Amino acid sequence: MKFELRPFDFDSAEDCGLMAKWSNDPELRHLARVNASDADYAKFVTPEEVSGWRPRPGDGKEDRRKWSWMCLADGVPVGECSLQLGVPHRLWKEPDVAWFGILLGEASARGRGLGRAFFALLEDEARRIGATRAELGVFEFNTRARRLYEKLGYERFGSVSELTWWNGKFWTDFRYRKNL
Ligand SMILES: CC(C)(COP(=O)(O)OP(=O)(O)OC[C@H]1O[C@@H](n2cnc3c(N)ncnc32)[C@H](O)[C@@H]1OP(=O)(O)O)[C@@H](O)C(=O)NCCC(=O)NCCS
Repeated sequence: MKFELRPFDFDSAEDCGLMAKWSNDPELRHLARVNASDADYAKFVTPEEVSGWRPRPGDGKEDRRKWSWMCLADGVPVGECSLQLGVPHRLWKEPDVAWFGILLGEASARGRGLGRAFFALLEDEARRIGATRAELGVFEFNTRARRLYEKLGYERFGSVSELTWWNGKFWTDFRYRKNL
């Protein structure tokens, strides 16, 4: 199977429609976004909103560039991944820290090792733009993602308590890091 990243097209109804579908999937919505309450959790994302998520220039204080890609398996979009530089909520305050995100939206793409394959491409992109370190956040209950990151050599080094609301309570965000 051929794995590729191509830039996410925020002007494409197809790309934004897929991202909205994945963001609203009941199997995924507690895993991939931070929610503050049941009402927040219940909100649906529209393709028009996704179009507004396009990367914007930073505030000038720090390099806050962002890249988003569609994950392609044999040319078919199966998920999205992203990397940002200079995110203020990172716990690793060194320079050149890439903040990673990944969402394999198609159920058929999960649990088959594709996360590992796309993460390798994401790390390559990060190195290419000059990042030397990576940090990511994962909710404590996301055992599949945590297991993947640990297998890829990410070290758990911190946490943010009560970050997201799901299933009647707040949950901690675990932070992982790795030298690239
Ligand atoms: C998290 C995600 C990127 C992982 O990618 P994946 O391709 O599905 O995972 P893999 O197939 O590589 O499996 C990773 C490991 O977890 C294991 N695993 C699979 N299902 C599991 C489960 N339900 N619980 C615990 N471990 C599980 C796999 O066996 C594998 O370990 P192995 O290498 O020892 O076999 C992907 O599932 C995804 O996008 N999920 C939804 C959104 C999400 O959670 N994003 C991450 C937010 S931080």
